[in-house]
Amino acid sequence: MTKKWWKEAVVYQIYPRSFMDSNGDGIGDLNGIISKLDYLKDLGVQVVWLCPVYQSPNDDNGYDISDYREIMNEFGTMQEWETLLSEMHRRGLKLIMDLVVNHTSDEHKWFVESQKSKDSPYRDYYIWRDGNGDAPPTEWQSYFSFDAWQYDETTKQYYLHLFSKKQPDLNWANPAVRAEVFDLMKFWLDKGIDGFRMDVINAIGKPNVFDGAYFVPDDRKTHEYLQEMNRKVLSKYPGIMTVGETPGVTPQTAALFTDERREELNMVFHFEHMGVEGDKYSLNRFRLTDLKRILSKWQTELGENAWNSLYLNNHDQPRMVSRFGNDGEYRVQSAKMLATMLHTMQGTPYIYQGEEIGMTNVPFSSLDDYRDIETLNWAKESRLQGKTDEELLLVANRKSRDNARTPMQWSNAQNAGFTAGTPWISVNPNYPEINVESDLRNPDSILNYYKKLIQLRGQYDVIVYGDFKEYFTESEQVYCYTRTLGNEKLQVFLNFTAEPVVLPLPQELIPEKANPLLSNYAGQPEVKSGQLNLRPYEALVYYCELA
Ligand code: NOJ
Repeated sequence: MTKKWWKEAVVYQIYPRSFMDSNGDGIGDLNGIISKLDYLKDLGVQVVWLCPVYQSPNDDNGYDISDYREIMNEFGTMQEWETLLSEMHRRGLKLIMDLVVNHTSDEHKWFVESQKSKDSPYRDYYIWRDGNGDAPPTEWQSYFSFDAWQYDETTKQYYLHLFSKKQPDLNWANPAVRAEVFDLMKFWLDKGIDGFRMDVINAIGKPNVFDGAYFVPDDRKTHEYLQEMNRKVLSKYPGIMTVGETPGVTPQTAALFTDERREELNMVFHFEHMGVEGDKYSLNRFRLTDLKRILSKWQTELGENAWNSLYLNNHDQPRMVSRFGNDGEYRVQSAKMLATMLHTMQGTPYIYQGEEIGMTNVPFSSLDDYRDIETLNWAKESRLQGKTDEELLLVANRKSRDNARTPMQWSNAQNAGFTAGTPWISVNPNYPEINVESDLRNPDSILNYYKKLIQLRGQYDVIVYGDFKEYFTESEQVYCYTRTLGNEKLQVFLNFTAEPVVLPLPQELIPEKANPLLSNYAGQPEVKSGQLNLRPYEALVYYCELA
């Protein structure tokens, strides 16, 4: 396996709107981020992924871009962005920007022109089709509920929008579109950024024929476009990193996107484990054997030449401690246990803002508290289908993207120290207890545990490059695996339950000669005559050098 800096790095994801507000307008901004760079440096991460900061009408909080070369007014100015980049580089932090080019905003000048007439030179920048009689061209639903086609009176055709109707899809089959995108990528790379996170990048390959009940991307086209992007742009900037957001991929199809010999992407975000409860809005709790089966498969089936990203939450998902851990009695232990898992598997770990202090889902008591377009559209559609607000609130509390979007909890000051004004979305009421300031003071905090995990990654090659082997695959309580590289071996034991677990260990796992490297409980682990006694949500990592 080849060594790369981005395999050894830990990435921190910033959702700028909710990170830190410097001017009291209730919206996070670039100067706010600059004021927290020392915090990130101290945490030990090497890379920051900044969610979109470009000019946008904010139908989808910046994922609807109206000008790729300007900074969003609420966030600041280009000069402030330049300062952010140089202040990051001065501290040895790398910056990767979000590249959202499956679609633009409907307020982007390309779309405004495209909409004017069928002969507009920009018409073919987007995907326009005649209706099927009075119906849209296909039955496809948007990922944000309702039809994926919007009828436009001016030219009496429909345009495709896989997301909101204010996010029309670009037509990547048009070479002029590709040239525009490559150009704007160079604009940012020439400013010195260190790479891109590419939004729903496997949706850019549209099928030749539009039919069927739902949109199925044509990966062969996406591969072609990405290889062209590498030839024309990325290869000219050696040392940058790329990560593609690719819903629907399997280890086998992800390997095609990330196999280094194919020169497409460095790594992807897959979604298999995000579907572990079944339906997106399901209230089921996941089964551990399902989660393990998915995660372990990705550890072993991606192959030697490809690479993966590791995450349990981001700005589109509920908080990981609420979903996969225990956000009540065992919040601290379970947040550390989940972090131990993420940071001891193969792949590049991503930390989503607030995860490092164990931020939880937000218990909003009314649907009016939600801001996210996905949640709002889903609620609208579900009401039409007869669901009550009570039912919807239950689901939103568990699954809405806004669970991850409440303001970062910096301190126990008003509004969690996020803003001196009124925050654009309410602060989670648990901020007096859960905040950065209190975690910094407490040596046993989740935050300090993350620092240790990040440091260990820098010290032990086996964490980055080691082979993965799983034990106790049928257990609904524990996840156990080893990582091996040369004569180095790591043994990882994770209790996913609020109960103690007694684990009879096979000979090869008896940690006699292994040193406890890390644990989320104080004191010595309980090992007795070939048995390991794991406490609720205990995480234990042993290290040994084989003879
Ligand atoms: C994925 C992004 O992460 C999400 O926030 C956004 O709504 C969609 N893509 C559309 O850009």
